[in-house]
Amino acid sequence: MVIGALTQHDLWIAPVAQRLQRQPVRVLEPEERTIEAALRPKNLHDFVGQHRVRKQLSLVLQASRMRGRTADHVLFSGPPGLGKTTLAMIVAAEMNAPLRISSGPAIQHAGDLAAILSSLSEGEVLFLDEIHRMSRPAEEMLYMAMEDFRVDIVVGKGAGATAIPLELPAFTLVGATTRAGLLPGPLRDRFGFTGHLEFYSVEELELVLRRSAGLLDLKVNSAGFSEIAGRSRGTPRIANRLLRRVRDWALVHGIEQIDARSASAALDMYEVDKRGLDRLDRSVLEALITKFGGGPVGLSTLAIAVGEEPETVETVAEPYLVREGLLGRTPRGRIAMAPAWTHLGLAVPDGVFGQDTLDLFGPDTEDEESAADWISNTQ
Ligand SMILES: Nc1ncnc2c1ncn2[C@@H]1O[C@H](COP(=O)(O)OP(=O)(O)OP(=O)(O)O)[C@@H](O)[C@H]1O
Ligand SMILES: [Mg+2]
Repeated sequence: MVIGALTQHDLWIAPVAQRLQRQPVRVLEPEERTIEAALRPKNLHDFVGQHRVRKQLSLVLQASRMRGRTADHVLFSGPPGLGKTTLAMIVAAEMNAPLRISSGPAIQHAGDLAAILSSLSEGEVLFLDEIHRMSRPAEEMLYMAMEDFRVDIVVGKGAGATAIPLELPAFTLVGATTRAGLLPGPLRDRFGFTGHLEFYSVEELELVLRRSAGLLDLKVNSAGFSEIAGRSRGTPRIANRLLRRVRDWALVHGIEQIDARSASAALDMYEVDKRGLDRLDRSVLEALITKFGGGPVGLSTLAIAVGEEPETVETVAEPYLVREGLLGRTPRGRIAMAPAWTHLGLAVPDGVFGQDTLDLFGPDTEDEESAADWISNTQ
């Protein structure tokens, strides 16, 4: 089978290093990246929470170690900051295998993927972050590589094109995605194990914070941990970020041991409220209520109103707002639920949806398109 058309330039002349080093989409601040790396659990034992995924993954890895084989391909899905990249690194560490990192947006041509695949060593773990953003031709090349550990590379164009079959060493692909629903079925089916990460409980976040405080050499009492954990939106990355902001506040105010009061004062200053909503979350709710009378309003219109990309609103703010019962996703667009009005200190108008979370779409559909489908199906 011949997949994708590659020129000699694509394949051999363009420097591989340049291809591998393209920027990922989500760019973290340099300080944040260094600290994230330092706080990242290095093995499954240190990885807090996600009991189900951890247990299942541990079994998959243990079985492949016992068989002396490379592990099956693994996919991690879930909202940002819950530990997908961390788990990918843990897979390599637990398998004692080298790790190669790239991401969907960096793989725009089949040649980009061929360059990576052809340089893998036996047993290597290839981590593809944001795998749903890979180009179609690269995706098709990946199907074959995952299943048969080989690719057909086409050199040249038109009548003179030649397919060069290339055998690949056995490798483990670890994919991560915040949008599992956007992955094509054939790709999803080729993963031997899929772990869906859930938001963390406050107790689990306290454990994450305890571990991080230990590593950062910070003194925090139990009430301080629970104050920070309660405002962390179920997300370890946010918990660690808030801990660092509280650390800064305590340093400047000369506080040795952080308690609930100092944590609370610090986080109020950074505009992270009791419920963990930050500026973006609140501006989404405010726009929805003050500009659109509580909705329904389409995702892209809402995103423009808050000056953000629709994807940011959908993947960063919405999952938590929906989970908290503050925002509802309906086929006609987003709506503010009763608790959102209350949270912003406004009276709840009659007829506003109540306490239940409302997500009539599931996590990954585009609202305008789905609304059109839904409306045409119901007419
Ligand atoms: N289970 C956990 N236990 C302890 N710390 C964790 C855990 N999960 C995540 N973290 C911390 O949260 C940070 C963010 O995790 P990670 O980068 O793995 O998230 P992600 O799911 O890959 O996010 P994104 O979708 O934005 O890439 C890590 O640096 C790590 O310190
Ligand atoms: Mg990640």
